[in-house]
Amino acid sequence: MNNIDLDKYFKPDLKQARKRTKTTIEELQFDMNDAHQKIGLGKTYKIDTYGCQANEADSETMAGILELMGFKATHEESDADVIIINTCAIRENAESRIWGELGRLKSYKRQNPDLILGLAGCMAQEENVVERVLKKYQHVDIVFGTHNIHKLPEYIETAMFNKERVIEVFSREGEIIENLPKVRQHQFKAWVNIMFGCDEFCTYCIVPYTRGKERSRSKEEIIGEVSELVKQGYQEVTLLGQNVNAYGKDIKETDYTFGDLLRDLDQTGINRIRFTTSHPHDLDLKTMEAMRDCTHVMPFFHLPVQSGSNTVLKRMNRHYTKDSYLDRLNQLKTTVPGISVTTDIIVGFPGETEEDFMETLDLVDRAQFEGAFTFVFSKREGTPAAKYEDNTPEDVKKQRLYILNERINEGYLKGNMRFLDQIVHVLVDGVSKYDDTVLAGYSEHNKLVNFKGDPALIGKIVPVRITQAKTWFLLGELA
Ligand code: 5AD
Ligand code: SF4
Repeated sequence: MNNIDLDKYFKPDLKQARKRTKTTIEELQFDMNDAHQKIGLGKTYKIDTYGCQANEADSETMAGILELMGFKATHEESDADVIIINTCAIRENAESRIWGELGRLKSYKRQNPDLILGLAGCMAQEENVVERVLKKYQHVDIVFGTHNIHKLPEYIETAMFNKERVIEVFSREGEIIENLPKVRQHQFKAWVNIMFGCDEFCTYCIVPYTRGKERSRSKEEIIGEVSELVKQGYQEVTLLGQNVNAYGKDIKETDYTFGDLLRDLDQTGINRIRFTTSHPHDLDLKTMEAMRDCTHVMPFFHLPVQSGSNTVLKRMNRHYTKDSYLDRLNQLKTTVPGISVTTDIIVGFPGETEEDFMETLDLVDRAQFEGAFTFVFSKREGTPAAKYEDNTPEDVKKQRLYILNERINEGYLKGNMRFLDQIVHVLVDGVSKYDDTVLAGYSEHNKLVNFKGDPALIGKIVPVRITQAKTWFLLGELA
């Protein structure tokens, strides 16, 4: 396929993506015409997903759309008629892997020139990525972003029948599309989007640019989706949003927020409710009290802190200080006794000094996190922090990460130790990767538990007495 005129495409624009002007969010209903429902008959697809749960959920939608078009899933790239790479832009190493993958897929395109190769997700929302694809990755047929997954049938039709390259990425603030089909990955655990986008603009983060304005789904749609999942036998839902604690704040007509949603979902009959991810400055008492009162909301909270230094937090645009974070965390721990808290931390943010890093270690000690995702700062083109002066050598940053991880691992172990000799309830995910007589699943506090049991228990919630606590998991026996 030749691209003749580079300007004919709908390319991303990071400046446009930064704008937040629209006050009312349009809600549209997905529908597929009859012709599109026949395009994939007798053909197969494969989707490769990178990144966070939002991408996992988007891939389930892409699969739903493709199956409604008649396509069937395959694990084999060599068999596939359509391959879609759903990409992540959060850090440079995620992107490097994906460029490698795209290069590798060229050989399949050579073997089967009719193969349609699509690039989707957060990377597609970046200007420099689309320019590079246009110039150097001629074998990519379709590029579409996070706002227009629902248009996939049109894109496949154009690429398949008109043999034209399709590049369509919207950088406007986004809308909400309901009624999208889904092929869910699991039979008993489901992702449920409650909101899209992010308005926080932390200075290091690309997400507000790639996923647009914060927009909440209506409570009726969410409650309806969870009730439907209950009917289908699902045990657990994980509510998804970049900042679930801001749920409802964009709907001006009501003061219904995240705490109210938790209380309503608790009544749907779903056994377990989890959510991810949160921003500390939007975490309110209403949410904490809902967690305390709702029996089905699990006692686990992922509350990214990013740094313990007030100077760094300010330059990150996080809207809280070390002390105000710790105050809120204490309030959470007192309101929901026994809750397990994990976090995200970035080391080596531009200008982070040794003293700043010590503040982070001190915060980790005081917060008693039971786990964390830790990262070295990665420069994202188009974000404010990409322009900040950064004098810290890479090996110093790596050393800080190493020291931090040692501390975090102590927290993991301490967090696991408190369940020794206790009975926890485990939603059984499957058999262990290492031993097929051993089952693996997660407890209420999101601890990985291994125990001997019959695979017939997969998908059920069972009581397990904990006999040993390791850093990364618990061992137990059926109680
Ligand atoms: N560099 C390193 N880590 C980042 N994160 C987000 N953006 C960056 C970046 N540019 C981390 C944050 C966030 C998590 C999802 O990824 O810790 O909470
Ligand atoms: Fe990124 Fe901050 Fe939004 Fe999280 S809250 S997605 S870190 S901008």
